[in-house]
Amino acid sequence: MHKTTARGRMKYAVISGQRFADLAEKELGQMLNGIEFEKKIQRNGTSLFLITAAKTEGDVCEKVMRKTAFVDFMMQIDFTLKGKGCSYENLQDKIACVLAGKNKESATFKIETKRFDPVFEENAKSIEVKLGTGLERKGFVADLAKSDIIVYLVFIADSIIAGHAIASLRSNYALDKFRGINSSEQNKVNRAEFKLEEAVEFFGIDLKKVNAALDIGAAPGGWTHYLTDSGVKVVAIDNAFLDYRKLCANKENKTLVITDRNNTQETKKAIEKFGVKNQVAIKSFDDKSAELSEYGLIHIKSNFPVRNFDMKKKLGTFDMLTIDANTQAVESSNIANDFAGLLKSGAVLILTIKFGTRNFERHIETAKKALKGKYGSIRIKKLPHNRREATLFAVRKNGDADTVDE
Ligand SMILES: C[S@@+](CC[C@H](N)C(=O)[O-])C[C@H]1O[C@@H](n2cnc3c(N)ncnc32)[C@H](O)[C@@H]1O
Repeated sequence: MHKTTARGRMKYAVISGQRFADLAEKELGQMLNGIEFEKKIQRNGTSLFLITAAKTEGDVCEKVMRKTAFVDFMMQIDFTLKGKGCSYENLQDKIACVLAGKNKESATFKIETKRFDPVFEENAKSIEVKLGTGLERKGFVADLAKSDIIVYLVFIADSIIAGHAIASLRSNYALDKFRGINSSEQNKVNRAEFKLEEAVEFFGIDLKKVNAALDIGAAPGGWTHYLTDSGVKVVAIDNAFLDYRKLCANKENKTLVITDRNNTQETKKAIEKFGVKNQVAIKSFDDKSAELSEYGLIHIKSNFPVRNFDMKKKLGTFDMLTIDANTQAVESSNIANDFAGLLKSGAVLILTIKFGTRNFERHIETAKKALKGKYGSIRIKKLPHNRREATLFAVRKNGDADTVDE
């Protein structure tokens, strides 16, 4: 059913962020044989490429999305409708052909749409519902939660470009990741929380295996919240306050804030304001008697490096290190290296590479170079909620004789 060109080549639609389009183009060129760029359309910060490439075995789209840093989405094109041809009737018939072509009458489907242009006035949800209902009338079974096949529709100018994929191969890649986000935002500390959620999903991190994590540059606490909600014990470092109210909600374990002796009164007031004084204890850095193991969350209220921090030895070791500090790539990497001694071998690192300038590749190379001594399996992805930044994943190498810096 997929659209094949005269020379047996395949047609694809690829989406990337507009500011990263050149890099996405470069990555596609490196991964696809005989690639030809037919069209590039830019709208509202997003780039859509229409390309052809030599036919390959397997799900090349999944491979490209997994292995590249800057390709957000890629699909093989089944058909394109234009102008008057874009009627619901036509669209339904064409999708029915795609689904029937899968030869699985019992297969369930869902439709995902992305509108690049407001030419079609209906919103994406209503288009999906109308088409889904129509297709159900034809005997196909829609199932949003457990679909076997995802049909993708890209609305651009007066055209609709359609593709599909086997859902089990695509769980990590939605055509429009931002759809439905607003409704799930209420319980989050902030939108940054989605960044870590996306990283965990994309890099395949099993949080059930993460007992303790160190979160640096943690305020106001989105990443910390996501981790503690996933049952992970967290030590968070940031000189700013966290959203203790959200962090303490529905938690059995208590929270501890460790701060400079001069700041304990200010901290006490802030915690009272959050209305959680019974759930949060405060200690100062020089309190040598502090017992740390009983707390689900410890907030070290300081910038890194933490001065006069005698308790460092008491923190134990960690299975995960997350760094979202708004520092340059080299500085964030140095922080990761400084804390490597507290990580178990095989521990996971998630680090945001902030793009201070448009020389994105240089920032990435700087981080990779700085980290390669202590970390391996380094991968980079610009995730949907990354704006002027990308996310780095790495694994703490074992075997080097690191000692914890005192
Ligand atoms: C983008 S925010 C982090 C957002 C956070 N990940 C969340 O989910 O809410 C960056 C934070 O890095 C912190 N920061 C910057 N430099 C730091 C340093 N050297 N040590 C610790 N925190 C730092 C800032 O105080 C700021 O709160």
